[in-house]
Amino acid sequence: MSLLLGFLFLLSLHPPRCSAATDTVSLSHALAGSDRLVSNNSKFVLGFFKIDSKNYSYANPNSYLGIWYNKLPMLTPLWSANGENPVVDPVSPELTISSDGNMVILDKATKSIIWSTHVNTTTNDTIAVLLNDGNLVLRSSLNSSMVFWQSFDYLTDNLFANAKIGWNKVTGLNRRLVSRKNSINQAAGLYSLEFDINGIGHLVWNSSVIYWSSGDWNGQFFGSAPEMFGATIPNFTFINNDREVYLIYTLKNEQLKVRAAIDVNGRGLAGVWLEGLQDWLINYRMPLLHCDVYATCGPFTVCNDDNDPFCDCMKGFSIRSPKDWELDDRSGGCMRNTPLNCGITMNKTGLTDKFYNVQSIRLPHNAMNIQTAASKDQCSEVCLSNCSCTAYSYGKGGCSVWHEELYDVRQQSEASANGNGETLYIRLAAIEVQSVEKKKKSRTIIGVAIGAGAAALCLVILLLMCWRKKIWFDRRAENAQGSIGIIAFRYIDLQRATRNFSEKLGGGSFGSVFKGYLSDSVTIAVKRLDGARQGEKQFRAEVNSIGIIQHINLVKLIGFCCEGDKKLLVYEYMPNRSLDVHLFKADDEGLDWNHRYEIAIGVARGLAYLHDSCRDCIIHCDIKPENILLDAYFVPKIADFGMAKVLGREFSHALTTMRGTIGYLAPEWISGTVITSKVDVYSFGMVLFEIISGRRNSSQEYLKDGDHSAYFPMQVARQLLNGGISNLVDAKLNGDANLEEVERVCKVACWCIQDSEFDRPTMGEVVQFLEGLLELKMPPLPRLLNVITGGSNSISLLPIDLK
Ligand SMILES: *[C@@H]1O[C@H](CO)[C@@H](O)[C@H](O)[C@H]1NC(C)=O
Ligand SMILES: *[C@@H]1O[C@H](CO)[C@@H](O)[C@H](O)[C@H]1NC(C)=O
Ligand SMILES: *[C@@H]1O[C@H](CO)[C@@H](O)[C@H](O)[C@H]1NC(C)=O
Ligand SMILES: *[C@@H]1O[C@H](CO)[C@@H](O)[C@H](O)[C@H]1NC(C)=O
Ligand SMILES: *[C@@H]1O[C@H](CO)[C@@H](O)[C@H](O)[C@H]1NC(C)=O
Ligand SMILES: *[C@@H]1O[C@H](CO)[C@@H](O)[C@H](O)[C@H]1NC(C)=O
Ligand SMILES: *[C@@H]1O[C@H](CO)[C@@H](O)[C@H](O)[C@H]1NC(C)=O
Ligand SMILES: *[C@@H]1O[C@H](CO)[C@@H](O)[C@H](O)[C@H]1NC(C)=O
Ligand SMILES: *[C@@H]1O[C@H](CO)[C@@H](O)[C@H](O)[C@H]1NC(C)=O
Repeated sequence: MSLLLGFLFLLSLHPPRCSAATDTVSLSHALAGSDRLVSNNSKFVLGFFKIDSKNYSYANPNSYLGIWYNKLPMLTPLWSANGENPVVDPVSPELTISSDGNMVILDKATKSIIWSTHVNTTTNDTIAVLLNDGNLVLRSSLNSSMVFWQSFDYLTDNLFANAKIGWNKVTGLNRRLVSRKNSINQAAGLYSLEFDINGIGHLVWNSSVIYWSSGDWNGQFFGSAPEMFGATIPNFTFINNDREVYLIYTLKNEQLKVRAAIDVNGRGLAGVWLEGLQDWLINYRMPLLHCDVYATCGPFTVCNDDNDPFCDCMKGFSIRSPKDWELDDRSGGCMRNTPLNCGITMNKTGLTDKFYNVQSIRLPHNAMNIQTAASKDQCSEVCLSNCSCTAYSYGKGGCSVWHEELYDVRQQSEASANGNGETLYIRLAAIEVQSVEKKKKSRTIIGVAIGAGAAALCLVILLLMCWRKKIWFDRRAENAQGSIGIIAFRYIDLQRATRNFSEKLGGGSFGSVFKGYLSDSVTIAVKRLDGARQGEKQFRAEVNSIGIIQHINLVKLIGFCCEGDKKLLVYEYMPNRSLDVHLFKADDEGLDWNHRYEIAIGVARGLAYLHDSCRDCIIHCDIKPENILLDAYFVPKIADFGMAKVLGREFSHALTTMRGTIGYLAPEWISGTVITSKVDVYSFGMVLFEIISGRRNSSQEYLKDGDHSAYFPMQVARQLLNGGISNLVDAKLNGDANLEEVERVCKVACWCIQDSEFDRPTMGEVVQFLEGLLELKMPPLPRLLNVITGGSNSISLLPIDLK
């Protein structure tokens, strides 16, 4: 918001220069250094720009002639003319029409030509016009259909609406997108997005290695890009005839500002400018993972999407150009710290080259298979015998060696490593390997020392605990006086049972939960409420009404305590704690699929009972893994239901402070419409996604750089259309899941998180879907609102007032 205000302020300081707000350059009207052309509809600007290098430690002397969106607080170049021939400070440039009719950039002082459109014009009256769709055309001033040159034929990294990408089969013109060199340099980079002559799109590295293909056009979308289907903002058209093959998109709303581009790192992206956020919402990325881009880290590196930064040098190598890395250009990769000894087997130090092994990786590109080597040792010898050999691997496929640069090495995650990770032996100068081994050894020694210390400490604690067990509290609460099976406890009894609230099980939005013992055999969970300001009588009444509600999938209320402002609820104790513990903790092996599926159905049944079956409908309002408890047999029990009743008027206050669960809140909370039981359906859908993935939907890895295309619910919706749901299942399951059930859960989840509550099923229907009693249609893709409300990153930018 302050950005927007700042921008408006800037505008008011510089009242629109009527003279400069033209869209045309002609012989008589040149464009000097700081002047701008503005398209007639005010959407696009043409001028000289320089990318702010404040964020980098290097000054940027280069400016470019380019096109960008008018009235955005941040500069987003959409096209640039002279990427390869920048205007370098302190030259002052000028855009004009030269005597041969071409549009040229001149050095104002020397009048030398820096860049030109280089075409043969047939008239002497050419002008350059910035059109409403962002196309810069060189044409006759009298006849607007005599166009000699247009920027849409020479796209850089961005595809404008109405611009073609593809081939003119007659002239051989190939319109394609090419990445930029780095974050501030507009020269062409190594990556491109282009069509082949058959009309299949490819992402290509250095015009040689294809790392993504679109598949065939089926009339509505490309096989590998199902998100094009039913796209609401752009309207795609694909043409393939004997003269042309191209893709084009149009905007239904001309005012929308969109981006479809290939970024510096070689990933395709699409996004839309949101005025409300004053930022780009990137909702499509291909590939999703950095490491799926070929050679994205350059030679002699290891790519790992779980790390930040995702590129690292191999052992024994260091970054060739730290300056370029800082600007996101990693094509130089890493270089050797110590040159190889190579053929010199016995020199002064008596050392030859050695191999250092890296485990669980995807092997480099371009392996050379050596049939003659029948063992690992022979394979290693083959590599050592040739100076250009840099690595070998010996595995299922026999012996493979690599020469010169190693490209595209990727760390496999530990979970997936069992199946497809391999070991690569990298050739290093002997002293490099020694220094690495030395480091490793010292680390194990420290590790052992720490381990031993920790074990001793544990023993002491255990002994202490055993001794304390002697004074174990063992006394039943005697003053039980509940009316319908619910016990009314005295505060002092609960204080004792919980040993003065010493063993905290967890804390939520309504208070803290403590473990307690009614006797040696009965364990309880005591919730101490923070927010309850209700009168005692009313509180008792509400608790009693909730106490009647009993269902196998709802936590059983044993009793309560209400003395003055002290309000406590006593529940049965759940030995397997809550669902989040099993889903998200990395050290836990996790739940198998059958358990997950049973838990999903159980929670659905519990909610359906709350919504429909008990006397008056109870909306839970806070469904999340923390509130789904698991008993000794992993039967799920919903906790905290009825909180609205127990907490009374203070409830709405409790919710507004409930920031932690924002990822589960339905859009109604934000739009301020009446809350119905469908908010629970929405939250339940969000929990289903987490049951599938074993990760938080709001997990940072899905939301890097405010980018929402990797957001898990979006991935699910996409893969459902794609038929690729098996990739979505938690890697911890090692593929051990019933795919029919997974698909069912995916579909249900997508239906549950529909923006409109009327599109969501009821919990009763959800139970039937999950049990396979009702068939489900294919869900529509989630819309933008879902993404925004799901993203913990962007949430702070939205005006949320839940009251
Ligand atoms: C520019 O737009 C205005 C309306 O906004 C229109 O009247 C005028 O004809 C347009 N000029 C050109 C050259 O298209
Ligand atoms: C510069 O850095 C600031 C803070 O780190 C960040 O908010 C901003 O987006 C960066 N600007 C660019 C152009 O990267
Ligand atoms: C321009 O004309 C010259 C001479 O007639 C010719 O050699 C050249 O190929 C033409 N260039 C283009 C781009 O048509
Ligand atoms: C352009 O060429 C026409 C003849 O083709 C000539 O009459 C006219 O004067 C020329 N205009 C300029 C500005 O040179
Ligand atoms: C304008 O140029 C086009 C294409 O060169 C041509 O077909 C048309 O006849 C011209 N119109 C006029 C009025 O000269
Ligand atoms: C890209 O390809 C060209 C030739 O096709 C080659 O000269 C160049 O070294 C390649 N670039 C990289 C980074 O490998
Ligand atoms: C999409 O664009 C094509 C041509 O560009 C047009 O014929 C079609 O009507 C458009 N569809 C919609 C839904 O706007
Ligand atoms: C022997 O190997 C060491 C270690 O790699 C190297 O530094 C040294 O230059 C080599 N000596 C000769 C004579 O090649
Ligand atoms: C080393 O391997 C490369 C690539 O296979 C080959 O071109 C070269 O001739 C080999 N050199 C020797 C000395 O064998």
